[in-house]
Amino acid sequence: MARMSGLQALVRRVARKWSGLKRKLFYPRDLHPGQITELLEHARQSGPSHLLHVIHLIETMHGHRRSAQAKQSIAADGAPLPWFTYPAIAYLNQIDLRDKTVFEFGAGQGSLYFARRAKHVVAVDNDSSWQKEIASQAPHNLQVMLRTEEKAHVQSLAETGQTWDIIVIDGRWRRRCADAALAALSHSGMIVLDNADWYPKTAQALRAADLLQIDFTGLGPVNYYQWTTSFFLRRAAQFNRLEPGHVIGGMNETRTDDSQH
Ligand SMILES: C[S@@+](CC[C@H](N)C(=O)[O-])C[C@H]1O[C@@H](n2cnc3c(N)ncnc32)[C@H](O)[C@@H]1O
Repeated sequence: MARMSGLQALVRRVARKWSGLKRKLFYPRDLHPGQITELLEHARQSGPSHLLHVIHLIETMHGHRRSAQAKQSIAADGAPLPWFTYPAIAYLNQIDLRDKTVFEFGAGQGSLYFARRAKHVVAVDNDSSWQKEIASQAPHNLQVMLRTEEKAHVQSLAETGQTWDIIVIDGRWRRRCADAALAALSHSGMIVLDNADWYPKTAQALRAADLLQIDFTGLGPVNYYQWTTSFFLRRAAQFNRLEPGHVIGGMNETRTDDSQH
């Protein structure tokens, strides 16, 4: 009986491993036959143009296809983008960052994006070849540090000896990075936690520090699944809006009845 349950436990462990691997390999990139039939039926009923337009919007206008092929978080024109969801990127795009300082746990295209838009950016990564890759493209206002060990990585923020307007948590050891971020965030700043849906305890710790959590869930560059990029604002957060910008795939018009009260 004991041997049976040992065997059962082993079978269960293998099944769990296989289902995790299967999810990684096939889901949600591959549609199952029922879903394909449903989409074809939708196309048959309403004509393929609506369906194709939705694909065009994501794959071409947002540049998703280009980013997936390059495995880099880039826009349709190849410009660097933070590896956040598209709604989170849209929110960032309408904030004036010119006088803002940004510290980023986890370097990447996001570091290059912030360097184009903000005053001063420091990013830290734990992977030496990736750190070199991003540092080789860094303009004068971006410094990319390498810290391979957990303790040094987390402490790199305090090492800067200053407070920051925006702190991005998008690398390894996120829960501990969140504690470091709370200690170094300016009184009017915000923390960005990417993949907040995967890190509920980290999000909880940031909320418990009286930051206001705003979630942006949706598709983003490279991946074929949706996720959540969360912004955690200080109650006294100060971020000025830019003029309303171009909405990707939007009507991009101002209604005439918008001019009077
Ligand atoms: C999730 S990425 C995000 C980086 C950055 N915050 C951004 O928005 O672009 C963070 C980690 O993924 C790894 N990484 C990201 N893109 C990569 C790529 N194209 N090739 C290899 N490693 C990559 C790096 O080691 C990095 O620490």
